[in-house]
Amino acid sequence: MTFDRSVKIAPSILSADFADFGREIQAVEAQGADWIHVDVMDGHFVPNLTFGPPAVKAFRHHVKTFMDVHLMIAPVDAYIDAYADAGADMLTAHVEAGPHPHRTLQAIKAAGMKAGIALNPGTPAEAVRDLLPLADMVLVMTVNPGFGGQKFIDMTAKVRTIRDWIGDREIHIQIDGGVTPQTAPLVVEAGADVLVAGSAVFKGGSVANPAPYGENMRAIRASLA
Ligand code: DX5
Ligand code: ZN
Repeated sequence: MTFDRSVKIAPSILSADFADFGREIQAVEAQGADWIHVDVMDGHFVPNLTFGPPAVKAFRHHVKTFMDVHLMIAPVDAYIDAYADAGADMLTAHVEAGPHPHRTLQAIKAAGMKAGIALNPGTPAEAVRDLLPLADMVLVMTVNPGFGGQKFIDMTAKVRTIRDWIGDREIHIQIDGGVTPQTAPLVVEAGADVLVAGSAVFKGGSVANPAPYGENMRAIRASLA
């Protein structure tokens, strides 16, 4: 597959109906989602708890696009094979999750997945610089992870710095947290190409009435024009 530099929208199913993930994934893909973003939280690295490998494996049956799994867990390494088995296309770990993020990225790639490295708003860009040769994606958090629906924190200077270091290498920059038609143009202009959006995509719609999902994604795309 050739590297896609265009802007991609990755709805976070954290904002979907938790009793109906399969149909929510189908609905948001039918409405134009490029990737499906899956937020794994452990109640330890972040103050919230979501789902683990068996649930993610069940989601896989419904994802036709690209399953992007964001691990907000610590430690990470013991679970990498379980997420490979669950069918993750991209597995992203936080640089703050342990002392050996380089080893973690090596293990994710060895397990056959694309490897992402995430940084919290309080973590400087420098923390990921030496990891870029192993990374397929850098996830710049624009909220403190743990919950959907939080206010965007401006990290455009960090995005610009990392984009500059990446140069023409095939590494995505993903933004996660508070992405809306108001904030998306700021981060795309700074060099991001994958936009995670939870509340801004799922608001106003449902499995029974999925058209708002498409309208919400088109509003984000239109803001970039
Ligand atoms: C936050 C998660 C996000 C979250 C984004 O910890 O990593 O993916 O779902 O939600 P919104 O788009 O509502 O800020
Ligand atoms: Zn996320």
